[in-house]
Amino acid sequence: MIKVGIIGVGDWGKNLLRNFASLKDCEVAFVCDPDEKNLKKAARLFPHLNFCQDYKKALTQDQIQAVVIATPPATHYEIAHHAVMAGKDIFVEKPLVLDSSEGEKLCELAEKKQRLLMVGHIMLYHTATLRLKKYIEEGELGEVRYVYSTRVNLGKVRQEENALWSFAPHDISVILYLLGQTPVSVSCSGSCYLQPGIEDVVFLTMHFNNNVIANVHVSWLDPHKDRKLTIVGSKKMAVFDDTKASEKVWIFDKGVDSNMDYNTYGEYLSLRTGDIVIPKIDSVEPLQSECQHFLECVKDRKKPRSDGKEALAVLKVLVAAQKSLKMGGTPVEVEC
Ligand SMILES: NC(=O)c1ccc[n+]([C@@H]2O[C@H](COP(=O)([O-])OP(=O)(O)OC[C@H]3O[C@@H](n4cnc5c(N)ncnc54)[C@H](O)[C@@H]3O)[C@@H](O)[C@H]2O)c1
Repeated sequence: MIKVGIIGVGDWGKNLLRNFASLKDCEVAFVCDPDEKNLKKAARLFPHLNFCQDYKKALTQDQIQAVVIATPPATHYEIAHHAVMAGKDIFVEKPLVLDSSEGEKLCELAEKKQRLLMVGHIMLYHTATLRLKKYIEEGELGEVRYVYSTRVNLGKVRQEENALWSFAPHDISVILYLLGQTPVSVSCSGSCYLQPGIEDVVFLTMHFNNNVIANVHVSWLDPHKDRKLTIVGSKKMAVFDDTKASEKVWIFDKGVDSNMDYNTYGEYLSLRTGDIVIPKIDSVEPLQSECQHFLECVKDRKKPRSDGKEALAVLKVLVAAQKSLKMGGTPVEVEC
C-alpha cells in the first residue's frame, strides 16, 4: 500500500484526489489546502481522510512515500523542493515550474536524493496519443512533415499564468513526444484582451530539424471547444479529436505523389485520396492512467514517461516561447 499526500484540492486537485482515492494499492494519507472552502468540499466527498492546511507539517510524516502537488504554478517550486527534501517522490502538475533554472535545480535535487519526479503531462497517458506514436514509429504516416493543434474554448480565465503556460504544456509535450525531438527555435505571438499582461490567446510555432514545423493555438476566449491535433505525413495524415466521445483518431490515406511523365520525361504531382481508417482505441480516462503510472513508478522505482527530463524539455520551449511573445513574435532559440 503506497501512502500518498495530496497538496492542493482546487478545481484540478479534486480530480487527482478522486483518482488516487480510487486506485488499489494506494492510500490517501492526507489532503492539504490552506483554503478552508476547498478542504470542506473535499471532506464532503471523502470524510474519512485527514485534512490539514499546512503542507510542511504534513510532510514530516515518515510513512508517506509520495505527494501530489496541484497548487498554482508559482508555488510548485517551493512545495516540490520541500517535498523532495522531506524524502518524498513527487507528482507535480503542469507546468513543472515557471523558470528553467528552477526546473533544473528541482530535477538535480530529485536525482541527488533519488526521489521520483513526474510532471502532469496528462496527454502522454492518453490512449490516442500512444496509438499515434505507434503509427509514427511504424512508419504508417511516412515522414512527419508538420503538426498543428488547437486547444481553445470559452473557459476558466487564469489570473496568474497566461494561456501559453496554462494550456500549451499539453500540446508541447504531445508534439515533442510524437516527434521524438525538441524544437530548435520558436516564435510566439498573442494578445491580452481581458487582463493586462496576461495573454488570453497565443499562437506558438515550433521549428524542428529536417524542416518539420508545429503550430499550437491556445485560448480561453473562443466560441468553439476544440481539442484537435493534426499530423501531416509524407504517406498519410492523422487527426486526433479529443472532443469526440469515441472515434477520436482518423487516419487519412491522403497525399500528393510525384510521378514521371513519360512523354516529357518531366515530373508531375498528383493528388491521392484513399481510405479513411478509424482505429478502435480503448477508452481509458487519461488521468486514471497517469495516476496509475505514477504509483507503479513509485512502487517499482521506474522512470516515469513524463519524468524530469521530459518536463525540462517542455519547460525550455515555454520559456523561449514566453520570450518570443514579449518580443512580438521574434524567433527565439530553444535552450539545449
Ligand atoms: N492536467 C490538467 O489537465 C490540468 C487541468 C487544470 C489544471 N491543472 C494544473 O493543476 C494545478 C492547479 O490548478 P487548479 O485549476 O486546480 O487551480 P485552483 O486555483 O483551482 O486550485 C489550486 C489550489 O491550491 C491551493 N493552494 C495554494 N497554495 C497552496 C499551498 N501552499 N499548499 C496547499 N495548497 C495550496 C489553493 O488554495 C487552491 O485550492 C495547476 O498547476 C494547473 O496548471 C492541470
